[in-house]
Amino acid sequence: METLTVDLGERSYPIYIGQDLLGQTQYVVPHVKAKQVMIVTNETIAPLYLEKTLAAFSEFNTASVILPDGEEYKNLEVLNQIFDSLLKKHCDRQVTLVALGGGVVGDMTGFAAASYQRGVPFIQIPTTLLAQVDSSVGGKTGVNHALGKNMIGAFHQPQCVVIDTNTLNTLEDRQLKAGAAEVIKYGLINDPEFFSWLETNIQALLSRDPQALSYAIACSCQDKADIVSLDEKEAGMRALLNLGHTFGHAIETAMNYTGCLHGEGVSIGMCLAAKLSQKMGWITSKTADQIIRLIEVTGLPSQIPPNLNAEQLLTLMQIDKKVQAGRIRFVLLKAIGKTVVTDDYDPIALKNVLEGA
Ligand code: NAD
Ligand code: GLY
Repeated sequence: METLTVDLGERSYPIYIGQDLLGQTQYVVPHVKAKQVMIVTNETIAPLYLEKTLAAFSEFNTASVILPDGEEYKNLEVLNQIFDSLLKKHCDRQVTLVALGGGVVGDMTGFAAASYQRGVPFIQIPTTLLAQVDSSVGGKTGVNHALGKNMIGAFHQPQCVVIDTNTLNTLEDRQLKAGAAEVIKYGLINDPEFFSWLETNIQALLSRDPQALSYAIACSCQDKADIVSLDEKEAGMRALLNLGHTFGHAIETAMNYTGCLHGEGVSIGMCLAAKLSQKMGWITSKTADQIIRLIEVTGLPSQIPPNLNAEQLLTLMQIDKKVQAGRIRFVLLKAIGKTVVTDDYDPIALKNVLEGA
């Protein structure tokens, strides 16, 4: 078992990473504020892991709420189901929410915790690779809007993050690969050694080798914790964590949050970022090819889905949290492991990249 820390002064919290942590009281009990606990999960995860999770909270007055499964349910209407359950159970301001699931459950539970009675504590128990390496850490919470992804939300840090790598054994291959996109992202942002490690070890990771998984999860969480500790509310460098996301979010929104997984949107987005960086002369074609090769070897998509067009994506990219004074800002590459947030790009090059030219 490994413990990392997200260092945020009095709001610092541990990330526990290991096998078989689910159901163990010592990782969660010290982080529960009072007697009431509400576990939020979904209809896929509940039959797999709810009973075991409930056991870890058996000394509390614990209830659960089971949401429908899917990115298309990450909205205000479904969020209300959490508030309904909390109010029906007379949960007070001391209640601790527990997010048991992937990034969708985690983001929604976190936002419910940020807003229920103006803020209650919550615990993250992520069960997808994507949630274990990214969404459970750092306190970004929220829901989607039909016009834009993650447009409604709040920063709200969890009390702790409990990562049981065994939960990944029931995850579909496609979801594991989608999580690997966010893992590759850390190598590209500022960890070239980790990128090299991934080039050598990606097949071990995809075959769920426990050591490879633990190493990649710990590296990713450490990289993210370091950035979040320096820039919690994304005043500056945290925006680097959005590599590939401006493109990816537009693709997800254009597809009505169905058909393209978040990690797949990010993988296409990272390839487009590499191509735009190459067109700007910031990286060589060899480097761009090296990035795209790792993404393709992972089994991730690298091209914009054929039913989408450049105009549509350009319009959607105007609704992005990095937009400033109407100008889209992208995370682009200066090298593998060196990224910048910039609005200094050639709009013609951008259009060409979106048109596959
Ligand atoms: P997800 O939550 O939809 O989970 C993917 C699928 O796997 C779902 O069907 C889920 O029910 C199922 N599942 C979860 N755990 C399982 C398990 N152990 N075994 C079998 N099935 C399991 O998707 P995701 O990829 O985990 O998360 C994507 C979401 O995370 C997006 O909404 C994205 O915006 C968000 N996100 C947030 C942040 C952040 O910083 N808050 C960062 C990255 C992504
Ligand atoms: N996933 C981007 C961030 O947490 O900032």
